[in-house]
Amino acid sequence: MAKTDFTKINLGDLQGNILRGHGRNYTANLFVKFGTDLVKTKALLGFIRTKVTSQTQQDADRAAFKATGVIDLPFHSLYLTSKAYDVLSVTTKPVDPKFRAGMAASQNTLSDPVATSWDPPFKPDLHALILIGNDREDKLDQLVSQMIGQINTAGATLLGTERGRVLRNARGDGIEHFGYVDGRSQPLFFQDDIDGEAAHGGTDLWNPDFDAFNTALVADPQGVDTRSLGTYFIFRKLEQNVRRFKEMESALAESLQLESDDAEIAGAMAVGRFEDGTPVTLQNSEGMIHPIPNNFNYKSDASGSRCPFHGHIRKMNPRNQPSDDIRIMARRGIPFGKRDADLADMPESGVGLLFMACNIDISRQFEFVQQSWANNDSFPAGGTGKDPIIGQPGFAIPATAQKWPKAWGDAARVPCAFTPFVRMRGGEYFFAPSLSGITRLAT
Ligand code: HEM
Repeated sequence: MAKTDFTKINLGDLQGNILRGHGRNYTANLFVKFGTDLVKTKALLGFIRTKVTSQTQQDADRAAFKATGVIDLPFHSLYLTSKAYDVLSVTTKPVDPKFRAGMAASQNTLSDPVATSWDPPFKPDLHALILIGNDREDKLDQLVSQMIGQINTAGATLLGTERGRVLRNARGDGIEHFGYVDGRSQPLFFQDDIDGEAAHGGTDLWNPDFDAFNTALVADPQGVDTRSLGTYFIFRKLEQNVRRFKEMESALAESLQLESDDAEIAGAMAVGRFEDGTPVTLQNSEGMIHPIPNNFNYKSDASGSRCPFHGHIRKMNPRNQPSDDIRIMARRGIPFGKRDADLADMPESGVGLLFMACNIDISRQFEFVQQSWANNDSFPAGGTGKDPIIGQPGFAIPATAQKWPKAWGDAARVPCAFTPFVRMRGGEYFFAPSLSGITRLAT
């Protein structure tokens, strides 16, 4: 039995993309500032409400996709900033203090670039994020045009649009721009997802079964009853410098004196997985059976001689259950930016990850792992160094050079300062209201 008590959730009143990813290959993320006419703003919310995909609808779409292969089913979701509730004159707004303060207020905590330098959509008067998804880009364009028409009619301003596009490897797995399988490890809530993991490698070493009420679901103060739920939704635009990252990977391989075939271990130690997703703590080359099992922890690698402590996935989830479980987030990110089909181009800008995650407590989850784990030279122990992927500030020489195993499984260490090549371009904290909550906000 899954840990989540589904009798306490109205799945028809819950937005999709929280308990499971929406799975569409293309998205448009529309950042909107409401106009001054409250009646028109409410009318816009009413229109969006007719489009928003509930979890029930998302599940029906998924079943239809599996049964018939129909691939152009739209997905819509709505996320609101704290300021949106103020504009709508709502006093009972979601309570998380970080949500109420906004992401820019955490700039020092997160070592983010100053908010005035962020990309245009991420401005203090941002009110809403409308996420539209489709597996066909032409269909997505039509849905976006329709939504922009409504935004204009409401006297609202489109502050900017961030387009997401899934990248895949030859096996069809989603990857990020550095070339590594992403999204493999997630907290799971539905029994069929948990059963799927049990069938693909087991769940005894890492149990992905999480209680959604301790991970992603909180009460929606505007909802119709106690089964009306929402989530705090983190959005961060993270630009990746692919060329510099690949150069750094080669420099690390050289420091470790790895020959051509073994050179991939360098990148695998930085990420914690080989490009195909094989965990480096389990073996010294890629190629584990597909789908790659996620049933592992670091107990048999206690000294970090296979997956170093600073490796991205080890920093971000040390897999000490149950103590680290309060940090776990459902990640819903998607890459942005176009690449050559063979990914042989090496962009230095214009590509990256639209990082998104569902939280019940922003301090306890997102901010804690970014600040106290990724950015912290001394986690889990003094001298560890920053996360080589997302340690902040990116593009700066790390205060502490990370220490890399001289060879896979070797106790000897080689210092090499692996600078993160990810730049934060802006972001915000949102709340994903229930469908009944949106209805109430619209009336
Ligand atoms: C451009 C930025 C990023 C890149 C390129 C990136 C890349 C990756 C990759 C390749 C994986 C392995 C696939 C998997 O285990 O699911 C991963 C896992 C993960 N990442 Fe990131 N990531 C980025 C940003 C972030 C951020 C901002 C956070 C949180 C603050 C984060 C947290 C995690 C977590 C929790 C995991 C799963 C670890 C596990 O459960 O073993 N990542 N990331």
